[in-house]
Amino acid sequence: MQVVKTIAEIRKLRHRLSDPVGLVPTMGYLHQGHLALVKIARAENPTVVVSIFVNPTQFGPNEDLRTYPRDLNRDLKLLQGEKADIIFVPSDEEMYPPGFSSWVDMEKVTRCLEGASRPGHFRGVATICTKLFNIVQPTRAYFGQKDAQQAVVIKRMVADLNMMVEIVVVPTVRESDGLALSSRNIYLNSEERQAATVLFKALTLAKQLWQEGEKDADKIRQAMTSLIQKEPLAQIDYVSVADATTLEELNVIDQPALASLAVRIGKTRLIDNVVLEKDAPFGCSIAGEVFRKLHPES
Ligand code: PAF
Repeated sequence: MQVVKTIAEIRKLRHRLSDPVGLVPTMGYLHQGHLALVKIARAENPTVVVSIFVNPTQFGPNEDLRTYPRDLNRDLKLLQGEKADIIFVPSDEEMYPPGFSSWVDMEKVTRCLEGASRPGHFRGVATICTKLFNIVQPTRAYFGQKDAQQAVVIKRMVADLNMMVEIVVVPTVRESDGLALSSRNIYLNSEERQAATVLFKALTLAKQLWQEGEKDADKIRQAMTSLIQKEPLAQIDYVSVADATTLEELNVIDQPALASLAVRIGKTRLIDNVVLEKDAPFGCSIAGEVFRKLHPES
């Protein structure tokens, strides 16, 4: 495994890498959710590049950029265990040198949900992903379903701008009580950790109502909202049932839909989602669906 800090080094290396190259973009502080992406990338590509970069431009002025958890040595050990080939760990100056002034600013799918709550967030995400795609020139790039809107945005951007990269979306990895893995879960104290299960409970309810034949999106939004409101530590940012591709809120669920939510538990803002579509995965454990994806014959 080789740790690379500069764009020049990656460029020098790139022509020697065996294609296809799988890229897993991360902000570090890796958990099993990231490792699921690396495992699938490892199974699908002879070369796996993982980037670790806490991208300052996707954080708002009042967000947790300064305190975002970081532990590079631990990350590198975990990635060694997954047999990643190249770890790209650029500095802020390497990615945003003085004079930087070009941005990928998208409309529609970036304006709602996370985009409405976090203005500028997707401009930062789309810009850094474009830069990473241009630097690494991967054949495939791997993103988690947990950040469903991010996956929709990146797919839209790649299609709109004719980028030569396949976007692979990997099911959410969950704790045994359903909480989606997130680097931000570390902020939760034990009472909040317990309260945080309300996100999965609300999404489970949404899925159950939909499976029972409920097509009225507002009834599902209301049911999720009432359930979350019963949890005293939870404060809803949004509850959505939207078209899975355009992210426009639905009245009637007659196409693949995304039920998603953002909820503050104490000071920690958590997001999660479920796809309302036949056979769509609701998450996985390393031993479960990731394994099945790697070994479909089993
Ligand atoms: O999902 C993340 O960790 C980040 O948004 C990403 C894709 C690495 C871009 O900074």
